[in-house]
Amino acid sequence: MKVISTEKSQILAARIAGALNTSIVDVKFSRFPDGELYLAAGELDDEMIIVGSVTDSDALVQLLLLIDACEGSKNHLVLPYMGYARQDKKFRNGEPISARAIARVFGKGVENCITINIHEPEVLKYFDVPTTNLSLAKDMGDYIMKMGLSDPLILAPDDGALAFAQDVARVGGWDCDHLEKTRLSGVEVKMAPKKLCAASRSVVIVDDIISTGGTIATATNMLYQQGATEVYAACVHGVLIGGAYVHLKASGIREVFCSDTIERGCSRLSAASRIAAAIRG
Ligand code: R5P
Repeated sequence: MKVISTEKSQILAARIAGALNTSIVDVKFSRFPDGELYLAAGELDDEMIIVGSVTDSDALVQLLLLIDACEGSKNHLVLPYMGYARQDKKFRNGEPISARAIARVFGKGVENCITINIHEPEVLKYFDVPTTNLSLAKDMGDYIMKMGLSDPLILAPDDGALAFAQDVARVGGWDCDHLEKTRLSGVEVKMAPKKLCAASRSVVIVDDIISTGGTIATATNMLYQQGATEVYAACVHGVLIGGAYVHLKASGIREVFCSDTIERGCSRLSAASRIAAAIRG
């Protein structure tokens, strides 16, 4: 068994290889003069773990090329971050179900697939191969535990993220709630924990994805107004588009951290050991 990865998932892939005590295949990545992606893999094994987050269109194409390059091996696909998973239904006429389109493509040429905290688990049904969705909630809880916060309040930004937040909070037996948005007027919105009070507390807002950071930055401002002493933000997938990280820091967040499903400077937790354990079975 060997591990192979796209450019954007090389650190996580190397960690998975380390956790499995196996080697990682060296891959040469480049482009043709017209901009098309090219890759050439080193020596493959008859069983391959192919790792690639779909962070953008190039990452998607590289992953397709890798799967093709591994033709003839028994391939296990690891999709740490599955981009396009948020378009999981037709919201308007004429739209695709993008998550289905991606799942259909990646169900070919592999025996099975592993995803991590996929935005909507319902989309797993679109894969043609057995797919397991792993959660890093416990790992996030372990990281928060190491931060040594005193009696933190774990907050989901909305009720959809509450189950994940509850799994994080269970690690330390911490309080958990979700933010509720109340429209005060045509232009004014209030966000506050639904049941608990944030005053004089350390608050950790946890979510599966931070994209623009807009939701969390607005919530942070309001939590400080409500008397929170410090606010942290954590997510599994640090999409962090544009200036999201700086935007969050500017809102007064003490620390923003994510996992290595998308490799960032603020990736503080790794999905590697959980993925390796799922592969070992
Ligand atoms: C959406 O439902 C996700 O769980 C996140 O809450 C969302 O992607 C965050 O978006 P943003 O960072 O742009 O506010």
